[in-house]
Amino acid sequence: MEQGKAKPWGVRIRAVGMAVPEKVVTNHDLEKILDTSDEWIRTRTGIRERRIVDRDVASSDLAERAAREALGKAGWEPQDLDLIVVASATPDHIFPSTAAVLQAKLGVAGSGAFDVSAACSGFVYALSTAAAQVKMGVARRALVVGAETLSKIVDWTDRSTAVLMGDGAGAVLLEPTEEGSDEGILSVYLGADGRGGDLLIQPAGGSRYPASEETVRQGLHYLKMNGREVFKFAVQIMGDAAEEALKRAGLTSEDVDLYVPHQANQRIIDASARRFGLPAEKVWLNIDRYGNTSAASIPIALAEAEAQGRLKKGDIVLLVAFGGGLTWGAAVVRWS
Ligand code: ACO
Repeated sequence: MEQGKAKPWGVRIRAVGMAVPEKVVTNHDLEKILDTSDEWIRTRTGIRERRIVDRDVASSDLAERAAREALGKAGWEPQDLDLIVVASATPDHIFPSTAAVLQAKLGVAGSGAFDVSAACSGFVYALSTAAAQVKMGVARRALVVGAETLSKIVDWTDRSTAVLMGDGAGAVLLEPTEEGSDEGILSVYLGADGRGGDLLIQPAGGSRYPASEETVRQGLHYLKMNGREVFKFAVQIMGDAAEEALKRAGLTSEDVDLYVPHQANQRIIDASARRFGLPAEKVWLNIDRYGNTSAASIPIALAEAEAQGRLKKGDIVLLVAFGGGLTWGAAVVRWS
């Protein structure tokens, strides 16, 4: 889609928040339970440690903490929200939605609340969906959360996936901009190719393979991944998606002040940044501390970047994600 200098959506990110579990699991900790090494994990992925929840903590618990932090920064009360959208590959339940659970935890009722399922691309999908509701006037104050407890669906005996994942949540608040403002969301690009669904999948627990003794025995409730194929797909699609979102915003990579990619593998991030000639100081990296937190990774990155003064009013921020589905999504935001 050729759009030239795109008109801003009229929707801005008012505040961001994040929450990660306190428990740190280092690569050296994993060396004790898996046939792996700190050196392998660091050089192949960039990960040094990740945060892992206790058994009794679910995604909505992290979502609530992230949401309350964002609400506090904006000076909003939970009852000010008229839409709650949660992206998660590890929802509390298949239903009710984690968004509805979160709403109850926030102590309110009445606002729309639903989940978005797009695995690691979930946050960009949810942001786009909620922003469209604000743009249309269906909602005025929206909460978008990416929340994950991937540690709950990882096979802790499978070194090819267990070392990659971490738990966490990030939240953003959306509201309309002033008339004529050039701030906020400038473009969004979403894509999917369902033919690659088997490359990244939690096979059992849904209607295809409902929970049974057999599915548990076969470990079909664990996340399965063809790492090599996902890697190739990711390197290509991160660049393609970024290019399309920038084009839709009428911008080029030279305009980007901060690139905030989904944190799945540092080599994937480096390859996509190289494609655009983006210098390292314009790329936000925190995979070393959190691993892959799926739908939570971009909002966590935004919250950290803002807290460290790396996001200033007027900055052009490029968000790019890919994940199971296969899915991908990118957005360009002028920070406000
Ligand atoms: N420690 C030590 N060795 C390991 C480990 C480990 N943790 N994991 C795999 N290996 C071994 C393999 O068995 C293999 O050994 P072999 O050559 O004897 O068969 C060797 O290391 C190389 O394995 P590869 O899979 O080729 O390693 P690669 O360089 O591709 O790195 C990785 C693997 C890190 C998984 C990479 O492919 C990757 O990052 N893929 C993308 C993953 C991703 O982005 N997923 C995102 C979505 S997750 C979600 O949606 C929730």
